[in-house]
Amino acid sequence: MTTAEELSSLKESVLAQIASAENTAQLEAIRVAVLGKSGTLTAHLRNMGSVPKERKAEIGRAVNQVKAAVEEALDAAKASLAAQELAASIASDAVDVTLPGRAQHIGTRHLINAITDEIADIFLGLGYSVIEGPEVETDYYNFEALNAPADHPSRSMQDTFYVRDMTGREAAVKGESDILLRTQTSGVQVHAMEDEELPIYVIAPGKVYRRDVADASHLPQFHQIEGLVVDKGITFGDLKGTLDFLCKEVFGPDRKTRFRAHYFPFTEPSAEVDVSCGICGGEGCRMCKHTGWLEILGCGMVDPNVLSMSGIDPEVYSGFAFGMGVERIACLKYDVPDLRMLLDGDMRFLRQF
Ligand code: DAH
Repeated sequence: MTTAEELSSLKESVLAQIASAENTAQLEAIRVAVLGKSGTLTAHLRNMGSVPKERKAEIGRAVNQVKAAVEEALDAAKASLAAQELAASIASDAVDVTLPGRAQHIGTRHLINAITDEIADIFLGLGYSVIEGPEVETDYYNFEALNAPADHPSRSMQDTFYVRDMTGREAAVKGESDILLRTQTSGVQVHAMEDEELPIYVIAPGKVYRRDVADASHLPQFHQIEGLVVDKGITFGDLKGTLDFLCKEVFGPDRKTRFRAHYFPFTEPSAEVDVSCGICGGEGCRMCKHTGWLEILGCGMVDPNVLSMSGIDPEVYSGFAFGMGVERIACLKYDVPDLRMLLDGDMRFLRQF
């Protein structure tokens, strides 16, 4: 049964606890322990039923006084502790306005895109258009229409990835699918000859794929820029002049070019173009394997057979074509020793360009 003494000692001890609470969380714990559903003072309130009638008024008043005193002490302590906590949190969150700001890194175009755009600009200046072809190509456009039928030895130089389509499933399983990831952008020549009005002056940049293991000079996926001109009276002289101009624009006016006879199935005659080594100036060094020259592209006069396969009369029209590897040109221009460095994503390297 509740007595006045009990209540007064409860009050003393609760007020003492409140006075020594260090933070608002402790205060809340005290409030719950005293005034909560199963709190000590709440228990006394519930017990009122067992207090004898004649003492009810007196004890009831005493319980309410304790409750009021506890609530008042809680409110006062809470106000002062909350203020202290707010001040502490403002102090700890303070921003040091004297610290240097965090710089935003602004991206740049990747070197591969920058070189592609640079070369596209050179040809746009010569009146060419830029076109694109599909990366997933048929055997016909990638090889056949470029004078490399199924048993042609030049195909083994460009092994690629074959695509299994739903219709040609069986053929693909047997390794005979005729849908593949293009090994060269040269197939776009065929699309252009089929689709574009004559005369044709186009370049076609894009990704190509080979079944090569990546090393310093090979990548299984890389970029090429193809060029094709078909017009009346086009000669090897036009080809030489155009590519000589290209090399001087890309590598600088002091660089020399040379045309070396070569073989490609779709051009006749064919050549590879070398540019004089920029490191040794043609003397011979490690970069140019002591030859003084760096190979940069393949080219030639479009084979009459290729023209007629695409419905163009080789008696009336002639043309030239060329194809270059973008990564290779980027590395030669900036003396990068390994193609893979372009793809590593190392910002210290990439930001230089
Ligand atoms: N497609 C050839 C390759 O990937 C490069 C090439 C050579 C393209 C001669 C041409 C060309 O257009 O005329 O090796």
